Amino acid sequence: MGATTRVEQANYGTWIRVGRLRAFGVASTLSGVGACLTFVSAWFALLLVPAALFGYIAIVLALTIWRLGPRGGDYRRRIHELIVAKASPERAGDGLDVGCGSGGLAVVLANAAPDGMTIGIDSWGKDWQYSREQCEHNARVEGVAGSTRFLRQSAASLEFDDASFDTVVSCLTFHEVRDVTDRTLAIGEALRVLRPGGRYAFVDLFADRGVFQSVERVREAIARAGAEVDEISRLDAHLNLPFPLNGAKVLGHAMLVVVTRRCGPGRPAGSHHS
Ligand SMILES: C[S@@+](CC[C@H](N)C(=O)[O-])C[C@H]1O[C@@H](n2cnc3c(N)ncnc32)[C@H](O)[C@@H]1O
Repeated sequence: MGATTRVEQANYGTWIRVGRLRAFGVASTLSGVGACLTFVSAWFALLLVPAALFGYIAIVLALTIWRLGPRGGDYRRRIHELIVAKASPERAGDGLDVGCGSGGLAVVLANAAPDGMTIGIDSWGKDWQYSREQCEHNARVEGVAGSTRFLRQSAASLEFDDASFDTVVSCLTFHEVRDVTDRTLAIGEALRVLRPGGRYAFVDLFADRGVFQSVERVREAIARAGAEVDEISRLDAHLNLPFPLNGAKVLGHAMLVVVTRRCGPGRPAGSHHS
């Protein structure tokens, strides 16, 4: 009998908080069980309403996790590849992924710009099941450990000098940044560390007025940082998002923004840095 070799696998996790799926699954099951008690009182039948509602949400969350993963179309990786393609890192140089999570986007960027150093930063808070060790593991498995580094930092105040990177990318980070009242300030911060002529490509829920108020505010933040918008488009203009990824509560409000830094380095107006 031949010995079996264990091949190390990358582990990127998912953008959906698994605890949320579990909570809705449990709530639906408990309501469903409660609804069976109609032999005690007909009023228990009312529990069918929350059972159906929580069950629907749990199904949407589970389908989303499946769609984002390799067996359901690998949309997480496809979105990362789109961002990196738009950032054109073939110009080489150093890259930064703001809010790198489990390192997926940083790995794609590092593969596209092998001569430079790619740095991924994240706050790795309790909200997410991502970690620095997970990023390092994934980079090692994907063969880019030597050209990547992962650091704990906040997107709201990056610990890099002005104009440190040739390429900056990020994916679904800014709507999560809670250490600034105006999330567009974090966009200015990402642009601060971009070299003149460098490109920044990012995806976030910019069409969601509850999060960013308006796409115009995003444009203003970019202009304040001395950069120029090359493209702002809906994510579904690039990727045919299937259900449930196309829903408003999933990626229906996601937009791709591509920016080139025109002028020299300097802190954006309104930045909280001293
Ligand atoms: C939806 S996840 C996306 C992760 C990763 N960009 C990806 O595409 O797989 C949002 C990420 O933003 C990170 N994040 C939230 N607030 C942050 C902050 N202030 N600074 C840096 N990262 C932050 C979270 O830790 C999490 O990893």
